[in-house]
Amino acid sequence: METVYCGDYQAPTQLLRERIIFVTGAGDGIGRAASLAFAAHGATVILAGRTLAKLEAVYDSIAAAGYPQAVIQPLDLNGATEADYQQLADAIQEQFGRLDGLLHNASELGQRTPIANYQASTWGKVMQVNVNAQFLLTKTLLPALEQSTDAAIVLTSSGVGRVGRAFWGAYAVSKFATEGFCQVLAAELEETTRIRVNCINPGATRTRMRAAAYPAEDPRTLKTPEQIMPAYLYLMGSGSSGVTGKSFNAQ
Ligand SMILES: NC(=O)c1ccc[n+]([C@@H]2O[C@H](COP(=O)([O-])OP(=O)(O)OC[C@H]3O[C@@H](n4cnc5c(N)ncnc54)[C@H](OP(=O)(O)O)[C@@H]3O)[C@@H](O)[C@H]2O)c1
Repeated sequence: METVYCGDYQAPTQLLRERIIFVTGAGDGIGRAASLAFAAHGATVILAGRTLAKLEAVYDSIAAAGYPQAVIQPLDLNGATEADYQQLADAIQEQFGRLDGLLHNASELGQRTPIANYQASTWGKVMQVNVNAQFLLTKTLLPALEQSTDAAIVLTSSGVGRVGRAFWGAYAVSKFATEGFCQVLAAELEETTRIRVNCINPGATRTRMRAAAYPAEDPRTLKTPEQIMPAYLYLMGSGSSGVTGKSFNAQ
């Protein structure tokens, strides 16, 4: 699979002015940094996540910086049903009448163990959060995205979603599925809509998930989430208009 580096992008300060952008896993790590970066570039960000206190902290940081007021959307991707997603999509239509961007960022790491030992319940949870929830959220938000003049869907992949690696189990398989979902959806939307769909691999980044996967690693050797934001701004803003169905690297 051909992948493209897009981490050198220099975003104009008002790149995302008046854009409404939905971010999953907005309370921590890369999702937190992306929410703040989008807001700093003028977007109204809908902060979705399962830990309310973390979402409130991001909301407060956005307010303190004087960026456009954010919206908090509690959302547990493991438990939410199609009816929950529909309710959420209806609320967005009612409040904004459209959606300009959707960053699928939240993920479960699951177990780092051989397939032979992998717990079926953990496998199911990882696939629910990383794959099924992504499908349901996208499906229900498509009508709102179709109302935008230049909408972007960004899906989060990983190195292990492009080349399989031992002991990465459901997480790796879910990221292969994410790359596949991106290609299928992009091909479907390309002719008939102005919605572009692309995948990003953040690369090794200093977050809680990375520390859980590599406990012996010195986090100071890794890029911070803030340092990889140029790639996210490129994919979410007009810099990537007309680009769809591609896999990008932030580093
Ligand atoms: N960091 C890296 O080196 C790296 C490398 C490759 C790919 N990625 C990908 O980058 C994305 C962001 O990861 P990260 O490194 O920023 O990890 P992180 O700091 O652990 O953040 C993961 C986010 O996902 C949320 N989440 C997990 N399960 C959820 C659920 N059931 N419902 C709603 N939200 C849920 C978490 O919410 P809580 O805060 O409430 O737990 C958290 O906000 C992921 O897709 C990951 O696979 C990361």
